Amino acid sequence: MTMNRFEDKVALLTGAANGIGRATMERLAGEGATVVAVDHQAGDLADAVGPLTDEGRNVTPVVADVMEESGIEAAFETLDHISNGRLDASIHIAGNSMFGTIEDLASEDWERLWRLNVLSTVICCRLAVRRMKTTGGGAIVNMSSISGLAGDPGWGAYNAAKAAIWNLTQCLAWEVGRYNIRANAICPGPIGTRRMLASLETAPEQAAAYARSTPLGRIGTPEECAAAICFLASDDASFVNSTMLVCDGGLTGVTGQPRFDMDSYSFAG
Ligand SMILES: NC(=O)c1ccc[n+]([C@@H]2O[C@H](COP(=O)([O-])OP(=O)(O)OC[C@H]3O[C@@H](n4cnc5c(N)ncnc54)[C@H](O)[C@@H]3O)[C@@H](O)[C@H]2O)c1
Repeated sequence: MTMNRFEDKVALLTGAANGIGRATMERLAGEGATVVAVDHQAGDLADAVGPLTDEGRNVTPVVADVMEESGIEAAFETLDHISNGRLDASIHIAGNSMFGTIEDLASEDWERLWRLNVLSTVICCRLAVRRMKTTGGGAIVNMSSISGLAGDPGWGAYNAAKAAIWNLTQCLAWEVGRYNIRANAICPGPIGTRRMLASLETAPEQAAAYARSTPLGRIGTPEECAAAICFLASDDASFVNSTMLVCDGGLTGVTGQPRFDMDSYSFAG
């Protein structure tokens, strides 16, 4: 089924060159959006945007580092040139994780990781809201993670950052709802981006453990995650607000207690 939910709509997204961001850009453009696509990896961004513009999609790449406020401002200024400030969907995907225990990780590492994940999201939200307020509203989607919902030992800085993104999204929705601006967070579980699949290729046991972590017996694809993001960004979600959409194949739907073998289990009552 072909959908055109973003015909005549303008979207900006960060992290567009790879993984979930790239799949989201492709879905937005495929459904008719005018897209401002932001990433700091110039080569990857050109590779991702090229095929879309070749087939007549309306995508403008902006090479910018979301760690720098001026980079984010430049991206929004590009948007202003393209659409005169009109912004229907602002989707903030750029981010990364960092391994290190809470005891070991240096303060500078926390600052770097939080600047990339949290502060960049805050700045994007601020600049998006200022535009959406004057143009009748819009939808904001922030990238959290199931890692923001509970702990992953060894990844505390990332988990705390993703939890912050989820919480700030709720605050934002309540601050700006009266301007017809919705704000939601997406919380993916393990998604098989090119980068993730490459790292799992050399770690088959970890790959199998990831697959076992969902009741579907597999991890998700970037396209499946993009579909959930685009739902939140679209008018299909017009009454979905201040919430998170968990896109994890069911991973977080279990308590963690020992599991029974359901094939050999027989009810004794
Ligand atoms: N893949 C997963 O399993 C998963 C699960 C939950 C959440 N997430 C989140 O989804 C987002 C995307 O993850 P992914 O797995 O698709 O990663 P990815 O590495 O495949 O893509 C991330 C993109 O963001 C860009 N980016 C990184 N830092 C940037 C910066 N400073 N300025 C501009 N662009 C920058 C990268 O260049 C890259 O193109 C991240 O926020 C990540 O935390 C991913």
